[in-house]
Amino acid sequence: MTETVVESTVETDVLLRVDDLKVHFPIKRGIIFDKTIGYVYAVDGVSLAIRRGETYGLVGESGCGKTTLGRAILRLVEPTGGVVDFDGTDVAGLKGEELRKSRRRMQMIFQDPLSSLDPRQSVESILTEGMRAHGLDKDKESTHERLRELLAAVGLPESALRKYPHEFSGGQRQRIGIARALAVEPDLIVADEPVSALDVSVQAQVVNLLEDLQEKLGLTYVVIAHDLAVVRHISDRIGVMYLGSLVEEATADALYEEPLHPYTRALLSAIPVPDPKVEDAREQILLAGDLPSPANPPSGCRFHTRCPWKQETRCSTERPELRELATGHRVACHFAEEIRDGQIQRHEVKAELVDEVAINPDVDLSGPASVSEVI
Ligand SMILES: Nc1ncnc2c1ncn2[C@@H]1O[C@H](COP(=O)(O)OP(=O)(O)OP(=O)(O)O)[C@@H](O)[C@H]1O
Ligand code: SF4
Ligand SMILES: [Mg+2]
Repeated sequence: MTETVVESTVETDVLLRVDDLKVHFPIKRGIIFDKTIGYVYAVDGVSLAIRRGETYGLVGESGCGKTTLGRAILRLVEPTGGVVDFDGTDVAGLKGEELRKSRRRMQMIFQDPLSSLDPRQSVESILTEGMRAHGLDKDKESTHERLRELLAAVGLPESALRKYPHEFSGGQRQRIGIARALAVEPDLIVADEPVSALDVSVQAQVVNLLEDLQEKLGLTYVVIAHDLAVVRHISDRIGVMYLGSLVEEATADALYEEPLHPYTRALLSAIPVPDPKVEDAREQILLAGDLPSPANPPSGCRFHTRCPWKQETRCSTERPELRELATGHRVACHFAEEIRDGQIQRHEVKAELVDEVAINPDVDLSGPASVSEVI
């Protein structure tokens, strides 16, 4: 095959392409005049591509922008800048009927199954709502047949239709959330921490259900989690986020075998290993200080305030690009090769106090006046 053919095959295989996506929420003060005094840089320049049928895991600490990125992909929050291209169409430019159509093809499973299901609606009404909105509720009989199919697909009995969310356990409620997403026959599902609110004993069942459904229906997933252990087995590829950007992206195996970004190494070092011998030899990297505020992200490399490999002065002055170190393995660190090859050693990091008020000199404040939620 020639190079052009290979490239075009890869192109058509991509279902979702995100390019330099930004979501900046304005911080407003003032009683009479709503004055914008800064921005929360929740998502700040994310680029990634997800192939059809793939599961892409998105991990990072609380507040690093995972949910906002997921919502911006579905246009449940208006992006400040960048492109979300879904199956060849720029989602940002869609309006009215076109936007509604693309929304049907992208669905979200929410982190907290209880608060995302209306307690006053029966399961039947929850499941038919989306179908009706997208014109899939054609006649009573076929709708009922579809509801039965959906419940069977997520492992719930038909009697569930007449019940209300509070009558179910956490795991069952998440099954209802999954059925609601499936009801409109989507191609892409963004699952936002789909199991983190569930008991450990039912987490595996829900993960297995998601995997089975993917196989049966050819779904593409973005699975969000704050801990790498949850996404490891379900993901083909994983993106690690820190303060609004991707710092590393690789196949799940490559990321675990050879994490190249200091932040990923720290995240992985926090996962205990069952084998006591391996556990004793395990590299443990404790990160100094808390996650800085996304309203005042550090200059240069956003991780430099906590990085045990930080170098003077490039790390604090120049923002590293996400660059490919090995095929499909992208890292945003100026010194990734030197760290990998042991040419730069780890050092102690003193926790820095985060100044909430000061504005970062390298961020452009001429952003949008307002970002509206459009759920
Ligand atoms: N509607 C909003 N208005 C203003 N700020 C927001 C809004 N939504 C999120 N943020 C802020 O954006 C940042 C990223 O939030 P987000 O919920 O995307 O993080 P997350 O990675 O999903 O965190 P978690 O793991 O806790 O769910 C946070 O600082 C959050 O406070
Ligand atoms: S660029 Fe510098 S501060 Fe950032 S991760 Fe690499 S070594 Fe650490
Ligand atoms: Mg979240």
